Amino acid sequence: MKRVFSGIQPTGNIHLGNYLGAVKNWVDAQDKKENFFCIVDLHSLTVPQDPDELRFQTRALAAMLLACGIDPDKSTLFIQSHVKAHAEGAWLLNCVTPLGWLQRMTQFKDKSAKQESVLTGLLTYPILMAGDIIFYDADEVPVGDDQKQHVELTRDIAQSFNGRFSQPFFTIPKPIIPVVGARVMGLDGPAAKMSKSSADKRGHAIRLLDEPKEIMRSFKRAVTDSGREIIFSDAPEKAGVNNLLGIYKAVTGKNKEDVIADFANARGYGDLKVGVAEVVIDMLAPIRAKYGQLMEDPAELDRLLAIGATQANAVAQPKVDEMKRIMGLVVP
Ligand code: TYM
Repeated sequence: MKRVFSGIQPTGNIHLGNYLGAVKNWVDAQDKKENFFCIVDLHSLTVPQDPDELRFQTRALAAMLLACGIDPDKSTLFIQSHVKAHAEGAWLLNCVTPLGWLQRMTQFKDKSAKQESVLTGLLTYPILMAGDIIFYDADEVPVGDDQKQHVELTRDIAQSFNGRFSQPFFTIPKPIIPVVGARVMGLDGPAAKMSKSSADKRGHAIRLLDEPKEIMRSFKRAVTDSGREIIFSDAPEKAGVNNLLGIYKAVTGKNKEDVIADFANARGYGDLKVGVAEVVIDMLAPIRAKYGQLMEDPAELDRLLAIGATQANAVAQPKVDEMKRIMGLVVP
C-alpha cells in the first residue's frame, strides 16, 4: 500500500483552495492508501504569530480536517510539534542542504520580498517540509500546485542524502497534484491564487466557515470579464470565468462538457456565479455543522490528536535515530 504524507498550516482561514487543492483529495483517497496528515504548526512559526491565536487555530484546524472527512481509523492525524523527530531531523537535513537550493525557492522569494525583516525559518522552511515527508518514507505527497517546487526540492534532498551516504535510505516521494482544483484563484483578482494571508480581504476567498450569505456575496462579486462566453479557457482575460468553472467542476466532479451544459441557458455571468455559489454552499453546509460539534468536545479532539502523535512518532523517531547513526552521531 502506498504511503501518503501531507500537511497544512494552522494559520486560520482555511479556504476553498486548501480544500479543493489538498484536503478533499486526502479524504477521497483515504481508503486506498496509508495516510499521515499533519497540522504543521512549526511551519507557521516562520512568520510572526499571536501565540493564543496559533494555539486556537491548531485545534480548530484539527476539528476542521475531521469535519472534512479525515477518519482517524483510516488516517494518522497529528500536530507536527507533538512529534519531536520533525524538529530534530530538520537540523540534520539543514547540515546536508546547500543554501543555494533554498534561496531559489519561489515561495521564499515572494514571501521574503513582502517583509521588512525575514526570519531564518522562512528560508529553511522547505527543509522542515522535506523532513516531514521523508522521515515517513512517503511515496506520495498530495498538494496544490504551489507546493510542487517544495516537493521537488524534497526529492533532491533525499536523493543527495542517499547518494552521499551510499544507500537507498530515504524513499523518493512524488508530488500528487489534482487535475482540477490545483490552483484556485482569488475571486477578487484571478491573477493571484486564493491565499490564507489575503483571506480576510473582502471577496478574495471562500473560507470553509463562511455563512451561506457571505459565500453567495463573494461569488456574486467575483471578477470576470466584459464578455458573455462561459467556456474553459487559458486566455488571461478569461481567468475569472475559468476559475469559477474550475471550482464548479472540482466540487461537482462533472466533466467539462457537462459543466458547460449546466450553464447553456445562463443569461450571463450572474447565473454562472450563483450556480457556482450554490454547489459550494451545499458542499460546505455539513462540514460547518460537523465542525461545530467537534469544537464542543475539546477533550475528544485532544484524545484523537494524542493517538495520532503516538502513531506518527512510532514511524518518524526510529527513522531519525537511524539517520543520526548514519551521519556519525552516537545514538544512546
Ligand atoms: P498550506 O497550509 O499553505 O496549504 C495547504 C494545502 O493547500 C494547497 N493550497 C491550494 N490549492 C489550490 N489552490 C490554492 N489557492 C491553494 N492554496 C493552498 C497547498 O498546495 C497545500 O497542499 N508547506 C505546506 C504545508 C506542508 C506540507 C508538508 C505539505 C508542510 N509540510 C509536507 C505536504 C507535505 C503549506 O504551507 O501548505
